[in-house]
Order: sequence, then structure tokens, then C-alpha cells
Amino acid sequence: MEAPVRKGYITFFTGAGVSAESGIPTFRGSGGLWRKYNPVDLATPEAFRRNPTLVWEFYDERRQNIAKAEPNKAHLLIAEAERTFPLVSLITQNVDGLHQRAGSKNIIELHGNIWKVRCVSCGKEEMNYEAPLKEIPPRCDDCGGLLRPGVVWFGEALPYDALQNAYEIAKRSKVFIVVGTSCQVFPAAELPFVAKEKGAKIIEINPEETPVTEIADISIRKKATEGMEEVFYYLKNV
Ligand code: OAD
Repeated sequence: MEAPVRKGYITFFTGAGVSAESGIPTFRGSGGLWRKYNPVDLATPEAFRRNPTLVWEFYDERRQNIAKAEPNKAHLLIAEAERTFPLVSLITQNVDGLHQRAGSKNIIELHGNIWKVRCVSCGKEEMNYEAPLKEIPPRCDDCGGLLRPGVVWFGEALPYDALQNAYEIAKRSKVFIVVGTSCQVFPAAELPFVAKEKGAKIIEINPEETPVTEIADISIRKKATEGMEEVFYYLKNV
């Protein structure tokens, strides 16, 4: 692999594919959640208003699956990159918290976190790691209101600060490494293009082609664990 730049200002941008080898299904590929379920019934504010129990059953099952999963080598190497190189950032679309469990600290979560809950009545937000949940739908300890998952649903805005920070980081990146995302959900999917426009070298790790492939300086057509080993070795040796 040819060295594109010097070290520093390295950004990882991850999607569901980075957690696939931990046994967590992706959304759009074969075995993907949105192949089996309709997101309109499960991941929109309207769906939650219509049937909070159904929505929570779906999230409770995902939370149980995630609780049993372990971070894989790709998560671990991304965390190690943060400890090893200067100015490493991580922007993730994932809600599973596996990057945190792998030791990453400097994380922007664009789509929220599945372990966060928020009261729809009083707005209180807290972490809740109960899996399975004792009560579905869960209720707020303070006001008895309905709790909702702390994730971003279709039709909702991304957290403002997280998105602004992500844009800033993308703009100043020298290397922008896209791992395991189909890059189909906006505005997140725009970030590699923003980085490219500002001169970053784009590295993509994905067994499949995506819209990012066209602008990638380096395409690693491999799974995240194997691809990250390659990228880490390369970053160490440039
Ligand atoms: P997708 O399911 O759309 O895409 C997963 C990508 O990972 C695909 O491009 C696969 O080819 C790739 N992939 C599969 N296995 C892999 C592996 N072992 N290693 C590396 N790559 C692999 O997931 P996202 O792009 O993350 O939004 O989806 C974006 C958003 O859509 C999610 O955050 C979620 C979903 O609806 C919300 O929940 C708001």
C-alpha cells in the first residue's frame, strides 16, 4: 500500500459492518434487519406513538443480542489507533456501544446509543443497561412517562452538536477511513465526501462496493477485522 500522508488527523467513520463480526446484524445486507423488518413499523416516531410495546420489543431483542456480543478486532484496533497516533477521531453511526467497550474514548455517535433511554414526558435522559428489560414499555422513575430508546429514528434530526463536530472533523481530516457502512443514510453518508472535498485521503474497508468506492484512494475489499489489520499496519509504517 502506498503511503498517502503523514500521521495525524486520522478519522474513522464506522457503520454496522464493523460490528458484523461480533454477531450483530447489519441493516441492508443479506441477513440485514431492514430485510426482515420494515423500519417504518419500528424505527420512526409514528411507529412509537402507534405501538410503543412493539417498538420496545424490537429494541429489547437487539439490546439482548448486543449485551451478549464482544467487541471484535476491528473495534479494538480503532481504539488502539487512538492511543497510538495523534489526533484520531471516531465518528460512528452505530448505536451498540461496542466502540466504547473496545476502549475508544473520542467518539461521536451520530445516531444515538441503544443503551440510552429518554422520557417522552419530562425529557430525562439516562443510561439503562437492563437486558432484558423488566417492563415493556419501560417507564420513567421520575414522572411515570413513557421512555423511548435514545436513538435517532427515520424522519428525526441528528443531534446538532454531534453532526456539527462530525463535519468539522471531516473537514480537517488528512486520512478518512470508512469502515463497514453502505453510505446510504444521510446526512451521515455525506461525511466522506466532505472530507474528500477538503483534501483527505479516503480509505474504505468493505467487502462490497458502496457510493464511497468511487472517491476512495484505497479500497480494501475485506471484512472489517482483516481490513483494519491492514490499515493499522500501514498507519504504523507510514
Ligand atoms: P448498512 O446495513 O446499511 O450497511 C452495512 C455495510 O457493512 C454494508 O456496506 C456491508 O457491505 C458492510 N459489511 C457487512 N459485513 C461487513 C464486515 N464484516 N466488515 C466490513 N463491512 C461489512 O449499515 P449502515 O451503513 O451502518 O440508522 O447503516 C446506516 C444507518 O442505517 C444505521 O445507522 C441505521 C440504519 O437505518 C439508524 O438507526 C438511524
